[in-house]
Amino acid sequence: MQIRIEKKSILEIEADVIVVNLFEGVTIPGGVTGIVDKEFNNVISDFIIKKEKFDGKFGKIYKLPLVCKDKKLIVVGLGKSNEFNYTKIRDLTAKVVRSLGDSDEKVVSILHGAGIAGLCPFGCAKMIAEGALSGIYSFDKYKSDKEELKLKEFIIAEINDEKFEKAQRGMEEGIKTGEAVNRARDLINESSQYLYPETLAEYAVKNSGVKTTVYGSEQIKDMGMNAFLAVAQGSVHPPKLIHMEYKSENAKKKIAIVGKGITFDAGGLDLKPPSSMLTMRDDMSGAAAVITVMRAISEIKPKVEVHGIIAACENMPSGSAYKPGDVIIAKTGRSIEIDNTDAEGRVTLADALAYAEELGVDEIIDIATLTGACMVALGTVASGIMGNNEEKTEKFIKAAKEAGEKFWQLPMDEEYGDTLKSDIADTKNTGGRMGGASAAGVFLSKFIKNTPWIHLDIAGTAFLEKTNSEGIKNATGVGVRSLIKYIMDV
Ligand code: BES
Ligand code: MN
Ligand code: ZN
Repeated sequence: MQIRIEKKSILEIEADVIVVNLFEGVTIPGGVTGIVDKEFNNVISDFIIKKEKFDGKFGKIYKLPLVCKDKKLIVVGLGKSNEFNYTKIRDLTAKVVRSLGDSDEKVVSILHGAGIAGLCPFGCAKMIAEGALSGIYSFDKYKSDKEELKLKEFIIAEINDEKFEKAQRGMEEGIKTGEAVNRARDLINESSQYLYPETLAEYAVKNSGVKTTVYGSEQIKDMGMNAFLAVAQGSVHPPKLIHMEYKSENAKKKIAIVGKGITFDAGGLDLKPPSSMLTMRDDMSGAAAVITVMRAISEIKPKVEVHGIIAACENMPSGSAYKPGDVIIAKTGRSIEIDNTDAEGRVTLADALAYAEELGVDEIIDIATLTGACMVALGTVASGIMGNNEEKTEKFIKAAKEAGEKFWQLPMDEEYGDTLKSDIADTKNTGGRMGGASAAGVFLSKFIKNTPWIHLDIAGTAFLEKTNSEGIKNATGVGVRSLIKYIMDV
């Protein structure tokens, strides 16, 4: 599907489907919807609204199969005008595109939000592009009967000069962002039969769009990353340390983004029960976000230096697996007593964060499907955020909100680390069930000396069993949008 914008009236653009909108309760359409209504003999006001009782409730779609010659008309409900926002533009565009999915048509849409609602054309067009890309997303490579989404073109119509300029830039950013999100979804949905550290690293080399170096077991050992190696040692697939680098000439800042890259988490010898293990191919969602964000950054080219780091391995039970009660000396020299082999993400991240800090970056952000406790706390709606720097944490939450993702700050007081006290080592990798997301945060904080750091726990939001408001099930690609936005704003 091609997404583009034209500086013309919606009526002048050659297309098979015209998409306009209505706020809840509106009986006489204004703006572009009003123009379209008049052009087609008041079909919206007299027929769709009056006769068909279309009320404009959010997300409702009215399809008129023939409005003139061979053109279709679609009216979408925007809901209450005082509740309208950018995320809703994304959700409803996804819905419209999904509903047209199997036709090979050309669609022209009004720039939702930039008219009477008065939202910024940049943001509106960005959300439309992201929504359209979510609307055509499906993961059906292993299905014989493919649900073919073959919509040909999605065109945004905006005739006003000033709005057009802004919308065009927004649309371009939205396309790059949306494509990154879909790539992350593909990586996460992929079977762990084919996606393991080596193939993940190969993917990064081919698709990150930036200089990518992959280190194998020997080099990982030479770097003293014993914690990472301990988690990896139970699998037949050797670990890979992936380091991606994007450098802008006039970089103002140096950032590292670190993604949890457990390509499958069986729990290790502390084996997970079947129901919990079922979706654990998603335990590399952080890594997927980091790779696809690097690619988007390489296209958008912000004035920063970004290092993407992934310690990729599997967490498997076997004769060579690390064991409960083992003590491991992490890269920083800090010793870890393994209390539970299923708390493996933090053990690999301990070394990955230390590696990132050695690069001398100004700040570090990690993104990880880290704790079931975070999912218990926040459900599948918001992701957890913690960190050692209040200002940056707040800045991230704000950037995420603008990008249309929800992050909720969890506490990271020292006391949450009390359960991690060990008799034989500097720390245990886990304590009890209570406050588990915060305990994991405190654990990670001990492996960073003094670099400002943000920790994102996406355990509850990375992979959904139920379809969300954007029409997405399974891998969501959460974090990609926020990271791109945050990095662009630094
Ligand atoms: N990958 C899991 C966390 C997870 C849970 C992600 C559910 C997505 C959905 C992590 O490695 C894990 O197993 N955490 C344990 C830690 C516990 C043993 C302290 C957990 O949360 O149960
Ligand atoms: Mn685990
Ligand atoms: Zn895990």
